[in-house]
Amino acid sequence: MSLLSPIPNYEPFARMQNELKSTDEEIVEGIIPLLEHLVLQHFPKGARILDLGCGSGKLLQQLYLRGYHTTGMDASKELLRYAQINSPESEFILSDIRKFELPPTFDAVLSHIVLLFILNAEELTSVFRNVYTALRDNGLFVFTIPLTDWFHEIAPPIFDHVNVNDECAMIEIFNYKPEERIWEIKVTGFELIENIWKRFDTIWLRRDFFLSEVEAALEKVGFTDINHYRLKDFGSDDDAMACFVCLKQ
Ligand SMILES: C[S@@+](CC[C@H](N)C(=O)[O-])C[C@H]1O[C@@H](n2cnc3c(N)ncnc32)[C@H](O)[C@@H]1O
Repeated sequence: MSLLSPIPNYEPFARMQNELKSTDEEIVEGIIPLLEHLVLQHFPKGARILDLGCGSGKLLQQLYLRGYHTTGMDASKELLRYAQINSPESEFILSDIRKFELPPTFDAVLSHIVLLFILNAEELTSVFRNVYTALRDNGLFVFTIPLTDWFHEIAPPIFDHVNVNDECAMIEIFNYKPEERIWEIKVTGFELIENIWKRFDTIWLRRDFFLSEVEAALEKVGFTDINHYRLKDFGSDDDAMACFVCLKQ
């Protein structure tokens, strides 16, 4: 019997995620400059990069185009199917990031908007331990995660996201339970399939952590030189999202 908490079900939303989220423009103008500043400048072209929770693989493709050797990992088969189309030269691994075991071959491991789906500190520590094992000495781990510390400073966290094009729509309604620090996200998607609109519904759970919890979990598995930045200071409109960078010595 598995005691792991549930993984968000992305399968019915893979096309919507591919068409509506993480556009090439957002990646090239927002994420790549940040990664160049924090990580990529430390590694030569050809360095090996693993993207944990790579989704539809668009970031991997931009990294591949810049000369890196790219591998993506995700738990969603459907998203990996899109990722293989979007980044045909990358390698892919279908796995839960809480459970993988890889030899120390990566120069950098990245994870963007994924660790918020890890629902407790033990499982977060397992992810960090797996990443630590997969990194070479002097490898860097860079990830984003929302910090509870910063939610205290901002408006009541009930909001929604709506993304739409001619053939897909995706609505996410966020509801925060402060006592558990759990967000319930009601997700509804619509997809035009052979001229008929189909509707899909699910609930995803996400979590935020205090800065001290994230730092303690990273230190526990051996990471050093732990730094964090507020994404808002790099032009993001997400007030509470932090970007961590840490080192395997
Ligand atoms: C919000 S999407 C982000 C995708 C991509 N990183 C991006 O920035 O566009 C979250 C991704 O994390 C993946 N994911 C969530 N929990 C996971 C887990 N435990 N193991 C593997 N993948 C997971 C989902 O399948 C999904 O592709």
